Amino acid sequence: MPAMRLRELPAWRALEDHREAVADRHLREWFRCDPDRGRRLTFEAAGWRVDFSKNRLGPETLDLLVRLAEQCGVPQRRDAMLRGERVNSTENRPALHVALRMPRSRSLVVGSEDVIPQVHAVLDQMSDFATRVRCGAWKGATGRRIRRVVHLGIGGSDLGPAMVYEALRFYATRDIEFFFVANIDSADLHLALAGADPAETLFIVSSKTFTTLETMTNAHSARAWLVRALGDEAAIKRHFVAVSTNTEAVRAFGIAPENMFAFWDWVGGRFSVDSAIGLAVMIAIGPDAFRDFLAGFHAMDEHFASAPLARNLPVLHALVAVWNTNFLGAESLAVIPYSHCLRRFPAYLQQLFMESNGKRVTVHGEPVDYHTCPVLWGEPGTNGQHSFFQLLHQGTRFVPCDLIGFCEPQDGRWDHHDVLMANLIAQAQALAFGRTAEETAESGMPSRLVPHRTFPGNRPTTALLSVRLSPRTLGALIALYEHSVFTQGVIWNINSFDQWGVELGKELAQKIVPHLTGESEALLGCDSSTEELVRYYRSKRHQSGGEAG
Ligand code: F6P
Repeated sequence: MPAMRLRELPAWRALEDHREAVADRHLREWFRCDPDRGRRLTFEAAGWRVDFSKNRLGPETLDLLVRLAEQCGVPQRRDAMLRGERVNSTENRPALHVALRMPRSRSLVVGSEDVIPQVHAVLDQMSDFATRVRCGAWKGATGRRIRRVVHLGIGGSDLGPAMVYEALRFYATRDIEFFFVANIDSADLHLALAGADPAETLFIVSSKTFTTLETMTNAHSARAWLVRALGDEAAIKRHFVAVSTNTEAVRAFGIAPENMFAFWDWVGGRFSVDSAIGLAVMIAIGPDAFRDFLAGFHAMDEHFASAPLARNLPVLHALVAVWNTNFLGAESLAVIPYSHCLRRFPAYLQQLFMESNGKRVTVHGEPVDYHTCPVLWGEPGTNGQHSFFQLLHQGTRFVPCDLIGFCEPQDGRWDHHDVLMANLIAQAQALAFGRTAEETAESGMPSRLVPHRTFPGNRPTTALLSVRLSPRTLGALIALYEHSVFTQGVIWNINSFDQWGVELGKELAQKIVPHLTGESEALLGCDSSTEELVRYYRSKRHQSGGEAG
């Protein structure tokens, strides 16, 4: 018998009825009926306290959403993932990022092999290397220590380490500068090399496949820059290391096998920041702090694996997203970290969410008849308040927000921090409760301004708080979002671990290159818009003296 479609499940149907009953209820009303909901709808795990109470739902909604999770098989699919089953069905692979942060004492057999000793062997290799780079024992080809690390990678091989490095800047060594180069636009590499001394520069070429066009183009340009400056190919050995699953390609590039840090095909790119892809982060914060980072992930993993669904932070986070997306019609999720150090976090989450759950067919290849991943976006608070918050408060769109904050400042400046956090709390309050026309009028506002100065409120937020931004709490936060993404994918019955949608544009770009360089004079033979774009670029390229391809 075919599996029941999502919208036919009893819990989904019950949620549709429930939505009719509660959709118009204002958050003012929800709080009036249940004054204690701020406490009752707040849950804690792994150093995080998450307040869901300013979402447009009640205990009954949550009960129904938990039933939906059960009817979708969330516990079974979660356990299958954690056991190492091939949950990535289109690529026939497990998705075992949880293994990357398991303690040495654990074991996890995949096929016939325990993967945990392999994970720790690489962690030990990374620790040894990071320690040598940090203390200056690792020398460049001319005998000088490393002062600049340039990480080359893109997508999951960039966004994680770039975000975590910025997030943990207060834990990072000041003896080494770090740059993260992703874009094939040579301006990115150019800026990372500006002022660099080749004799003191280390490149980490990070690519799971070691074939990605952007990363390999940057790596070849960096290698040419280094060899030109140091005058000897032998220098590559002291200035290039690789993080990859592709030993042959790494060797062919000229990087010695002992300078390669491995990971495995069961680690998805966007789930890889805690693998050797995080080598630059380990060099920055040191091996002990990196292990704390992993311990944070692991604490959230344990909670995800064992807590009842109704108190399980990643599951609840996912269920609230499903409620907002599929029942209240939200089309996006704004993530606003009230933390300057987390300013790259929304960009990181964009890949994690949208590459994972931006899917239109189920795991069985049938088109879905419901929305999947919302558009994720965001900027740090309070900057965003002076930019797009106007739309959040008074626009016509319904945009749920995650507000992330910490009780302690990174630098001991409580005078700034108290105001920062007051803003987080105030925004959540203003978005939820707004200000009615009566309240506005009572404040003595001229009547013609009342409609302009009225805030409808009823705009949902989830507040995620922790005591301090540290390696451990950051690891736990990332794991919370990873498992939320997975849980949402299970409910939508999609494969969160493949990304075929990025292929088509790559293939077409490869075909277009020779037409831009002049290598091919022929027309592309496609639509008039594309032909015209190519023609315009070529004519300007020619006038600007672009070299022939
Ligand atoms: O953009 C697609 C993608 O495959 C991402 O999923 C991945 O993180 C990125 O490219 C980089 O891939 P690689 O690590 O193989 O260079």
